[in-house]
Amino acid sequence: MPRPLTAPPDTPWDTAAEAPRPAEDGPAGDGGIAGLFDRAAATYDRVGIDLLPAAGRLLVRHARVAAGERVLDAGCGTGACLLPAARAVGPGGAVAGIDVSPAMTGRTRERAAGHGLDWVRTYTADVEDPHDALPAPPDGGYDAVTAGMLLSFLRRPDAALGRFHSALRPGGRLALSWWGEEAPGWGRVVEATRPFGPGTREEIETDVPGQSPPLTPERVERLVYQAGFASVELYEERLEATFRDPDHWWEWTWSTAARAFWESVPDGRLPAARAAAYRALEALRAPDGSLPYVLTAHFAVCHRW
Ligand SMILES: C[S@@+](CC[C@H](N)C(=O)[O-])C[C@H]1O[C@@H](n2cnc3c(N)ncnc32)[C@H](O)[C@@H]1O
Repeated sequence: MPRPLTAPPDTPWDTAAEAPRPAEDGPAGDGGIAGLFDRAAATYDRVGIDLLPAAGRLLVRHARVAAGERVLDAGCGTGACLLPAARAVGPGGAVAGIDVSPAMTGRTRERAAGHGLDWVRTYTADVEDPHDALPAPPDGGYDAVTAGMLLSFLRRPDAALGRFHSALRPGGRLALSWWGEEAPGWGRVVEATRPFGPGTREEIETDVPGQSPPLTPERVERLVYQAGFASVELYEERLEATFRDPDHWWEWTWSTAARAFWESVPDGRLPAARAAAYRALEALRAPDGSLPYVLTAHFAVCHRW
């Protein structure tokens, strides 16, 4: 029997009562991070590149999500981690997905329903907002919390990690992932476009210019120990994808948080920014014209006593 996850009945963001969050302006654009991912949701993970799904599958595997478990997937996006987690727990388990973007939770809900994963519930909520309680399993904490590629978007990752720690049962685990380095050469594309925007791509995506130190395994390890976790396993994986051509790459960047950079380019300068990127991409093209891309993904599995 599926064990349902319940949120307090008066929680304003319960599935039945989802409503768009009020827009906030910031470097990530209208509506802040929620607005950014609302605009990306239509194409997010839909341009034929297996980076997010591959990272999601690896996160669930590293977390050793097992049949019958209860999982919270924080920053669920369109389900890259949530769907493999739901398959791993099976009908005897339960998965709750949370995302600040209503368009993202909407797509996850549709995808879960389309795959017959009836033991999935989704919630539109900000994991950093103390007014938004995390949904809890009826009988204590989660067996696992997964948060794939979420950490870099948080203003107070320490506080969020503390909330995830509290949401776990004793002995439960938190599985995190974050992107590392791109293959050598790809930095030139960022450099070529930087002069067209008001800040670095990372600053604009994360909405916290100059205040967000890069995520390194050492920093994440420190943060999770500070949040009360007892031990941490770290993993690093090299993920590969191929863009058919520069237009495919362009389409992909708009489907991700990197779109915040393009949106920040002042009116009229976007064609020149795109042309500068394409010039830099020429050096990366394979003989058949495609663009092989390599990205490091980092994973941390954190254990609660
Ligand atoms: C890069 S996407 C990763 C999505 C998914 N986990 C995956 O691996 O593809 C980051 C997601 O985190 C969500 N997000 C960012 N800040 C959030 C917050 N404070 N609370 C909840 N979700 C948040 C975004 O809306 C977005 O869907």
